[in-house]
Amino acid sequence: MNVTPRKLQQWKQEQRPIVCLTAWDYAIAKLLDQAGIDVILVGDSLAMVALGHTSTLPVTLEQMIHHTQAVCRGVNNALVVCDLPFLTYQTDVIQAIASAGKIIKETNAGAVKLEGGYPAIIETVTRLTEIGIPVLAHVGLTPQSVRVLGYRQQGKTIEQQDKILHEAIALEKAGAFAIVLEHITEELAITISKTLSIPTIGIGAGDNCDGQVLVTADLLGLSEKIPPFAKRYANLQQIILDSVTQFADDVKSGEFPS
Ligand code: KIV
Repeated sequence: MNVTPRKLQQWKQEQRPIVCLTAWDYAIAKLLDQAGIDVILVGDSLAMVALGHTSTLPVTLEQMIHHTQAVCRGVNNALVVCDLPFLTYQTDVIQAIASAGKIIKETNAGAVKLEGGYPAIIETVTRLTEIGIPVLAHVGLTPQSVRVLGYRQQGKTIEQQDKILHEAIALEKAGAFAIVLEHITEELAITISKTLSIPTIGIGAGDNCDGQVLVTADLLGLSEKIPPFAKRYANLQQIILDSVTQFADDVKSGEFPS
């Protein structure tokens, strides 16, 4: 991997936008890397886009490791980041070190991502960084808290804005090398991006973050439903449907093999 956490921080200084997308297998990862994507996130959204679950909650650490190994085989240049799934780091620091350490030992990922910024998470980020595991933080709408937050935009009230800003500051102090800002108001994203010296990577957080991330299945038109802030650049669902239907017709009519 040529892209490092330090390089992302340098790019923030140079105002060079950071490009991040998610991947869940070798084929997609290889294409993203070939396209020059800077950060390839093996997000726990793979629970929904690759495994058919209705939230990110059910995915296991073993499944994340399995998919991250495949992604890493397709990547030469990008920084690969693996999400710590729900309940593999929230119990205590020991659990977080064991889970993040397993990812770093068993895959070629360069960093882990975890959600939240409450005090226990801050302590976890400090310890992981101290032992040499780079951490990408994630605040705002944190999908692992969907049962509490839903998928609503965060940071609409002064109290929420204060809480998220202070979480972001604490995560930087704890050693996070960058931070994902998901589905927060543009105003709050601007404040956080100006306050922090580490890069902010936005998803549904306006166009003033230091970088942007999308779920690749949303961008390619492979998801059933996309969030209001995502953008569909292709309709692969239709292309795949047309192609396999054509194949089935050709087999039935004797057109294939010809
Ligand atoms: O799991 C994921 O894909 C993510 C992105 C939405 C940032 O966390």
